[in-house]
Amino acid sequence: MHNQAEGLLRDQPKVVSVASGKGGVGKTIIAVNLAIVLAQRGEKVLLFDVDAGFANAEILMGVTPRNTLKDFLQKRVSLEKVVFQTPYQVDLISTGMDVDDLITFNLQDKSDLYNHLQRIASNYRFIVFDFPPGFNEELEKFYASSDHLIMVTASEPTSLVNAYTFVKLMTVKGVDPDGFHLVMNMVKDMREGRKIMEKFVSVITRFAGIPITSTHLIRFEPLVKDSVNKQMPFVTTKKMSQPALAVYGIADVVMKKQPVKKLSFIDKVKALFGVG
Ligand SMILES: Nc1ncnc2c1ncn2[C@@H]1O[C@H](COP(=O)(O)OP(=O)(O)OP(=O)(O)O)[C@@H](O)[C@H]1O
Ligand SMILES: [Mg+2]
Repeated sequence: MHNQAEGLLRDQPKVVSVASGKGGVGKTIIAVNLAIVLAQRGEKVLLFDVDAGFANAEILMGVTPRNTLKDFLQKRVSLEKVVFQTPYQVDLISTGMDVDDLITFNLQDKSDLYNHLQRIASNYRFIVFDFPPGFNEELEKFYASSDHLIMVTASEPTSLVNAYTFVKLMTVKGVDPDGFHLVMNMVKDMREGRKIMEKFVSVITRFAGIPITSTHLIRFEPLVKDSVNKQMPFVTTKKMSQPALAVYGIADVVMKKQPVKKLSFIDKVKALFGVG
């Protein structure tokens, strides 16, 4: 430890964002299972479910948080009351609304939110964001605040094109995470999948100019769907399955020591809401 300031910066939580160009490619299953693995490894984890979609994090974990971020923004409850302790040692914040609803809250509400987030964020080592599909302008600064951006895609051309478009938009907007990870999910033929991934990486590196930190393939396995139906995340029930092993691989790379960031989490949140 060289000095105190460096130590403080190092203690900031790492922000891990799970995004995709197209919907239904496995963001939520990855975000939930990754958050659980990080917690199993002794890290304090906050899972922030930005997507109030159909199979959201609370459904996958089989929990029903009493309050959502919407309740906080409507001044019904404190942010502490929104944080829900799941049985997986992962704390969960559920949004309880569409991303578009965020626009309806004024700057003061959002400014209150970041003050409260600051207090809460310092309790965690990792904050995992589960985003809605597609590049959303409202969330741009969130992407920008990521230490790790996990881009999920399927191996089908439409999904790859959407993922590429997302990545390209990121570069145009100057979003530049420290760690940029590609996950190809629901792969039926792993050999074929590896080939597609290789090509995809070279296209992204060449045409979007983004260096890829790591790549991961997740096989299409009925146990994943079962885990959704049973509301039992597969890293807790099928620890040796390929999808679980793939998630351990993602956890390994995000837990690797990263260079000290210039911006603290709170600076990023301030930037997100265009205040401070
Ligand atoms: N590796 C896999 N093998 C089999 N089925 C899978 C796999 N990954 C995901 N699925 C299925 O796809 C569904 C969609 O996954 P998930 O909800 O995580 O996608 P998403 O990207 O979060 O979707 P949305 O964009 O709607 O938020 C899951 O409920 C599951 O049934
Ligand atoms: Mg989802």
